[in-house]
Amino acid sequence: MTQRKGIILAGGSGTRLYPITMGLSKQLLPIYDKPMVYYPLSVLMLAGIREMAVITTPQDQAQFQRLLGDGSQWGLELTYIAQPEPEGLAQAYILAKDFLAGAPSAMVLGDNIFFGHGLPEILAAADAQTTGGTVFGYRVADPERYGVVDFAPDGTVRQIVEKPKVAPSRYAVTGLYFLDGTAPERAAKVEKSERGELEITTLLEMYLADGKLSVQQMGRGYAWLDTGTHGSLLDAGNFVRTLSERQGQQIGSPDEIAYQRGWIDADALRARAEIFGKNQYGEYLLRLLG
Ligand code: DAU
Repeated sequence: MTQRKGIILAGGSGTRLYPITMGLSKQLLPIYDKPMVYYPLSVLMLAGIREMAVITTPQDQAQFQRLLGDGSQWGLELTYIAQPEPEGLAQAYILAKDFLAGAPSAMVLGDNIFFGHGLPEILAAADAQTTGGTVFGYRVADPERYGVVDFAPDGTVRQIVEKPKVAPSRYAVTGLYFLDGTAPERAAKVEKSERGELEITTLLEMYLADGKLSVQQMGRGYAWLDTGTHGSLLDAGNFVRTLSERQGQQIGSPDEIAYQRGWIDADALRARAEIFGKNQYGEYLLRLLG
């Protein structure tokens, strides 16, 4: 079986967060004590993925490289791909075609934050599915802002609609997509939508039409946080702060995950902790060493 590869899609113009994102990529903004991209990166790591492509705008690429490097500090292999224009989520698969080289993939949006007990298990189940695709439906109060799942009365998925005026259900499709090796060739057939984008929902519809899309529910025990507006960005930071301070445990720490998975050894973790000096994050990493 070919090892699944990861894609972190962290391009886009971030106009909704202007003026903050006029000088800095959205996915580099802080979510409490870590850059936003750490959280989706951690999700792919929890899925057991070590080879990933980070897709950014050409102008932001250097900053992502400065932050994440080649990934070896976490036992990862990171490749950087530039997306010249934000022409849609499905374009990521066209850009990543050579990188994927036929392998199945898990793509996560660089501004999606997931948290929940049991996340590694649902990720493992999606990873085990090597043909077709798996996406996650999550109940939200404002489904119109997302791709929305339309269920038939018997519970099967009828269609997925992008930002419908009237939502057919309350279940939004999260920004985490497990697709098989056919994704790049399918993405090449996606035509631009009315808003001028290669929509991920069109790609998902192709899988659905072939009876190859599984929509898993991510239940109420999970948090799928939005970072799309100034308010939700602050809320996400407060959520991470509240939970991590109460529990004394980090959320979205690639260092911790790499160490727990045995991808880096104690010396490597210590070296990382030293970079952070005596701040809370550094002290936390040192405590993991016991
Ligand atoms: O967050 C989940 C939702 O993401 C899904 O429910 C929708 O089906 C999907 O279309 C997408 O909707 P958004 O309206 O949130 O997409 P947005 O244009 O905000 O892009 C999501 C992220 O992907 C954002 O951080 C920027 C990045 N992006 C976006 C585009 C269009 C890119 O890196 N390249 C792009 O071309």
